[in-house]
Amino acid sequence: MDKQALLKKIEDKKIIAGVVGLGYVGLPLAVEKAKAGFKTIGFDIQQEKVELVNAGHNYIGDVVDSDLKKLVEDGMLSATTDFSFVKDADFIAICVPTPLDKHQEPDISYVRDSAAEVAKYLKPQTMVVLESTTYPGTTEELIKPILEQGSGLTCGEDFYLGFSPERVDPGNLIYKTKNTPKVVGAIGKDAGEVIAAMYASVLEGEIHPVSSPAIAEMEKILENTYRNINIGLINELGRLCHEMGISVWEVIDAAKTKPYGFQAFYPGPGLGGHCIPLDPYYLTWKAREYGFHTTLIENSMVINDGQPGYCIDRAMHILNRQKKAIHGSKVLVLGVAYKQDIDDYRESPSIRVIEELHRVGAEVDYYDPWVAEYRENGETVKGIEEISPQIIAGYDLVMITTGHTNVDYQMVIDHAQAVFDTKNVTKGLRINEKVEVL
Ligand SMILES: NC(=O)c1ccc[n+]([C@@H]2O[C@H](COP(=O)([O-])OP(=O)(O)OC[C@H]3O[C@@H](n4cnc5c(N)ncnc54)[C@H](O)[C@@H]3O)[C@@H](O)[C@H]2O)c1
Repeated sequence: MDKQALLKKIEDKKIIAGVVGLGYVGLPLAVEKAKAGFKTIGFDIQQEKVELVNAGHNYIGDVVDSDLKKLVEDGMLSATTDFSFVKDADFIAICVPTPLDKHQEPDISYVRDSAAEVAKYLKPQTMVVLESTTYPGTTEELIKPILEQGSGLTCGEDFYLGFSPERVDPGNLIYKTKNTPKVVGAIGKDAGEVIAAMYASVLEGEIHPVSSPAIAEMEKILENTYRNINIGLINELGRLCHEMGISVWEVIDAAKTKPYGFQAFYPGPGLGGHCIPLDPYYLTWKAREYGFHTTLIENSMVINDGQPGYCIDRAMHILNRQKKAIHGSKVLVLGVAYKQDIDDYRESPSIRVIEELHRVGAEVDYYDPWVAEYRENGETVKGIEEISPQIIAGYDLVMITTGHTNVDYQMVIDHAQAVFDTKNVTKGLRINEKVEVL
């Protein structure tokens, strides 16, 4: 392979970039590449997303609508379901989902299927990078053989392969795809160099090369497992604090004054999103291949997975104090997005809370200004369209499960019969004895 020619092509912005999977990760990445001057083709199996992109319609919160529209109009960005266009691309980033199956084991089928499609049309001198979060070893053990067998090409001789974890934090107003440092681990020194050069010409964040894809895969799991475990710790501490009559929130605020060695994590109704609740399972699954039990991680997941049920217990006690049974009580769940000010409800603990409330016989509605409806187990669940003093007063209990900035929580407190605030959004508001904080 002619590495110098490829580096020159990157410098001259003559590379055509392909992004496979146009979701929360892939679409912002495709937009950044196109904005940096690289003609970009997005691939997705969902016809609807492809049509939206080609019509210049944005559907991801972190993408600026006018950016997408202009790039499409200027011919810098297009989308397709036809993988034969892979043959036009010199750089391919794979950003497909990595969920769990019903046994909580890695469902790697999206990664496998998309790699198989890419392999059919892979041409020599192409850079392929997996960005989906996955277990250490995926790039070398799974992707490499699929690409080699499907294309008849040899990794390192005919094409470059690497892993570069995506770190997008939906809704983060400071760190976006563009300015977040990027870790790159590739098979061979040359692959590391060309892939890092490609990212450096698109992104503003530092590019941090590591010696192998497995290091990059593991570091991404470390980032997310670190969060999972610390949230588990604080959820456990929160339960103890409640028993002891201490506010865990005040404890955290005090601990936070230490200028070093402490990072604040907060309790809540459980873990949500496509990353933190799922990624550690990729590691625990892989660890078993080595006869290794990741006990700390598994214990943390037990605590976090138990948090929706714990919140229902607390809700029962709140209603009990008012001489009401949860069975038959009207409960309003405020927020189903898995975090503040976004429309993503994947793995949202609020949905587990709603399920548990139904299980114990409560009459449940939800309100979320970001999520008008959600789909769960093949069914569409619609939220109520607005909240007002009259509407709020009609519920026996309001459970706040997501803290959005565009909800009037003071109005909620002032008119609710009882409030259970699992996110501490009532901090700083005029609260009364009807409000209980997790
Ligand atoms: N969402 C986040 O905040 C975030 C952050 C960091 C890393 N990640 C990781 O990035 C990866 C993608 O996550 P996401 O949130 O963008 O998922 P997503 O569901 O929003 O998007 C994935 C896209 O891939 C498409 N797809 C599925 N199979 C395909 C195939 N065979 N060929 C082409 N397209 C296909 C889907 O139709 C979908 O549009 C996951 O591994 C995730 O863990 C996500």
